[in-house]
Amino acid sequence: MGNIVWHKTTVTKADREKQSGQKGAVIWLTGLSGSGKSTLANRVEAALFTAGHRTYLLDGDNIRSGLNRDLGFSDADRQENIRRIGEVAKLFVDSNAIVLTAFISPFRSDRLSARKRLASGEFIEVYVKCALDVCESRDPKGLYQKARASVIPSFTGIDSPYEAPEAPELTVDTEHQTLEESTETILSYLKEKSIIH
Ligand code: ADX
Repeated sequence: MGNIVWHKTTVTKADREKQSGQKGAVIWLTGLSGSGKSTLANRVEAALFTAGHRTYLLDGDNIRSGLNRDLGFSDADRQENIRRIGEVAKLFVDSNAIVLTAFISPFRSDRLSARKRLASGEFIEVYVKCALDVCESRDPKGLYQKARASVIPSFTGIDSPYEAPEAPELTVDTEHQTLEESTETILSYLKEKSIIH
């Protein structure tokens, strides 16, 4: 660590912003399994992409089958999962992309660490709110059923904690809002903050 020196690049983040007309940022979705993070992330990304923006989606199951395939679901592994994703998101933000992340990211301290790695305004925490019993009744992957049957240990919301955000930039309520309404909430915020025009 002691002998590593950060190199400044010739082309900077500001240069990239000027060229593209958008700001890099991460839209960090957090919520229970089955709350609708991936669905919403995909919908928002599609809308941004169609409008000509440069985007990238980092999604839980995909990252866990590649970059983070060595990690499980202990508290320590979830912490490392989120740490690496925070670092990757930071690189993408530096490249001027609008990054969407769709991870449970259950621990406040880990989300805060990811936030602190970015500049002010670049980390947009979105609480994808949905009651546990509703997520459980949706059970899109059949995992809650397995967790209840103790086939999957340490399942978030069942026998592993989920710490809801206390002051997220945005909350979307997927029990009571349509997908289009939740998408619009995020897109409006990006415009309001001049991340997109
Ligand atoms: S996180 O807690 O480390 O942020 P992440 O979002 O990467 O979790 O992965 C969650 C996904 O992994 C869930 O949507 C589910 O498909 C799957 N999964 C498998 N085992 C568990 C578990 N014990 N707890 C939560 N999700 C699990």
